[in-house]
Amino acid sequence: MTNIDPRPSVIGARLGKVKRVIAVTGWKGGIGKSVTAATLALLLAKKGYKAGLFDLDFAGASDHLILGARGIFPKEEKGLEPPVVNGVKFMSVTFFSENKAVPLRGANISDAIIELLAITQWGELDFLVLDMPPGINDAALDIIRFVGRAEVLAVTIPSVLAHDVLARSLELYRKLKVPVLCVIENMSSGRKTAGVSAYIKTDRALENALGHPAALLKTSFARDLSRAAGRFGFPI
Ligand SMILES: Nc1ncnc2c1ncn2[C@@H]1O[C@H](COP(=O)(O)OP(=O)(O)OP(=O)(O)O)[C@@H](O)[C@H]1O
Ligand SMILES: [Mg+2]
Repeated sequence: MTNIDPRPSVIGARLGKVKRVIAVTGWKGGIGKSVTAATLALLLAKKGYKAGLFDLDFAGASDHLILGARGIFPKEEKGLEPPVVNGVKFMSVTFFSENKAVPLRGANISDAIIELLAITQWGELDFLVLDMPPGINDAALDIIRFVGRAEVLAVTIPSVLAHDVLARSLELYRKLKVPVLCVIENMSSGRKTAGVSAYIKTDRALENALGHPAALLKTSFARDLSRAAGRFGFPI
């Protein structure tokens, strides 16, 4: 059967001027994917890169809170133009959910995400950071498939359970031929873990810095992430 779904080519064209797409993933909830994605985008923008951040977590969008983004909305201009927050072009499913729980399931979530990918006008970007939903459900797989050239930044925590799912996720990315830039262990206790290439320590000051980008960039969390980013070739 001929594939007549026009969305992959529309998404390809929409991302045409985006140099690299970084998908921040992790197979567990609450392990720091969102703070990593949002802080990475802020660090890149501070260094002078054109950076974008796309919060694709339908069930728990939180990047708008981390960035302290209030009272903004995308502009309609042959699609949707993301507003700029602290130098970062920012798009979130939360713009369309009015901060309410989204009553969507399975394929509908995938469809809504693909639709957003197809209508967002990112323009020219050096890096587009995707804050991925936890795990590798249909929505996550569809994002990877439709974007086509995402590079994974995998976040894990120092737990036997997290490392077990991490190993399986890395195996899957290998099968799907998705490049893995780096495995970051967040909330690290300082002990080395096999397969991990960079560490971020627990930072008691992080919670109070959420919603205040300038303060966030001064945390030891941001410093550790910046050092980790050096490991995977991002000079930030
Ligand atoms: N290194 C750290 N030190 C201290 N607190 C941290 C650290 N990393 C993350 N946190 C805190 O852990 C909580 C969860 O982080 P975050 O929301 O980024 O996780 P997530 O993986 O995106 O979760 P979800 O799966 O719900 O989207 C937040 O309150 C965050 O401030
Ligand atoms: Mg999150």
